[in-house]
Amino acid sequence: MTDAHKFIAIDGPAGSGKSSVSKAVARRLDYGYLDTGAAYRALAWHVLEGGADTADAEAVRSAASDFPLSQQLDPDDRRVLVGGVDVTDAIRDPRVSAAVSGVARVPEVRLQVNEIFRRMVAESAYPAVVVEGRDITTVVAPDAPVRILLTAAPEVRAARRAGELAGSDAAAVGEAMRKRDASDSSVVDFLNAAPGVTVVDSTHLDFTQTIDAVLAVIERAFDAD
Ligand code: DC
Repeated sequence: MTDAHKFIAIDGPAGSGKSSVSKAVARRLDYGYLDTGAAYRALAWHVLEGGADTADAEAVRSAASDFPLSQQLDPDDRRVLVGGVDVTDAIRDPRVSAAVSGVARVPEVRLQVNEIFRRMVAESAYPAVVVEGRDITTVVAPDAPVRILLTAAPEVRAARRAGELAGSDAAAVGEAMRKRDASDSSVVDFLNAAPGVTVVDSTHLDFTQTIDAVLAVIERAFDAD
């Protein structure tokens, strides 16, 4: 059973500001925050830790069937644990980033992980949880009262990502981002809004303006109830 009413669903591509904006919105409203990409990363870590190849769908399926994930839903405490091991930093490793798309493209794994997300939200003590990812508005919680696609022009996303990675050049970062988006969006479409999903385009907005735009969508949705 899906506690869809507790979902504030936010999808979008890398560099759209999704994570920082989702966290800020959760803090502002005293809601929980769930980074679903971190769960896919933790699963990729779990597969690699078991010595398996993330390109081997059977090995990925087997790792997913025994995946003791624990994620904090506090926007100020993003710890991720797998079987009691704190993997919060390890899942940002380039080794994991390179492997995660392979894990995320196995359909049975997505079904299993989606159930974990729904359970975490349903069991949380928060009145609502800002859940960010790629398929939250369409697959994980299509009945959520608030569904937002956060976008920005590709060159703006690349520049933001390059700014986060000291010493990197925007063209190379843009190219890497385009490749990952192309690979990821062949699994779930997070570049186009599904019917009923509100688009917030942050191309010409700064951080604060983007937060305000998202808060306005949430307010409108709850006022309309
Ligand atoms: O947002 P991120 O870069 O941490 O996501 C890691 C990977 O997980 C990325 O390759 C896309 C995938 N992902 C997904 O397929 N579905 C989600 N709901 C979230 C992330």
